[in-house]
Amino acid sequence: MPTPHIAAGPDDFAPAVLMPGDPKRAERIAQMLMPDAHLVTDVRGMLGFTGTVEVDGTSHPLSVMGSGMGQPSATIYATELFREYGVQRIIRVGTCGGIAEGVQVGDVIIGTGAHTDSMMNQHRVPGINFSATASFELAAAAWAARDQVSEGTVLAGPIVSKDHFYWTVPGMIDGLRAHGTLGVEMEAAALYGVANEFGRQALAVLTVSDHLIDGSKDMSAQERETRFQGALALAVAAATS
Ligand code: ADE
Repeated sequence: MPTPHIAAGPDDFAPAVLMPGDPKRAERIAQMLMPDAHLVTDVRGMLGFTGTVEVDGTSHPLSVMGSGMGQPSATIYATELFREYGVQRIIRVGTCGGIAEGVQVGDVIIGTGAHTDSMMNQHRVPGINFSATASFELAAAAWAARDQVSEGTVLAGPIVSKDHFYWTVPGMIDGLRAHGTLGVEMEAAALYGVANEFGRQALAVLTVSDHLIDGSKDMSAQERETRFQGALALAVAAATS
């Protein structure tokens, strides 16, 4: 303490951390939710904040920190937060591409499990294809709060965490769709693996920002920045449950 990638003091993180990919979004979320938010780390520009959020008249300690993009980056921060800073739960708040036909841009997906083409969980348990699953308690808390989402439909189910944003094995997305996969993003499977490793809790709550079949309603870069209120409400509900 500090760790190679986090320059915070031993008690600087709350037990619950919201984790968007973008550190600037972490700053906006922290300012939006917590009047007393203060910066606790900024190594490599990966901003982390801690403060208190009020939910139904009760104050809860909360941290918000960026993960960067992709599973290796998210794994570094999740490992250091769980192992060195005593963090108990990490809730990723991000965006995903829609895969399932019934999923629309603007919907919110609670990722109960995450398939992956990444090697990051491949060698965790010899001889086993590891199942990257979210915390049931966090997923149930997010699901129970779904009435708070005013824009789009809230769905819960499997997602996929890919390593490539711009390249996909031919047939992969069709196969995932045929197996009920709701959306694609780039961090959850590794995050769930790290939480399992340390006996802690993790969940990803994702706003659908684009669709892999029908790209006509894809969000602009600016919309991706602003249309995450529904996912954020569910993430806060899970974090403070
Ligand atoms: N995050 C948001 N949209 C995505 C996509 N289409 N692929 C991977 N990650 C995403």
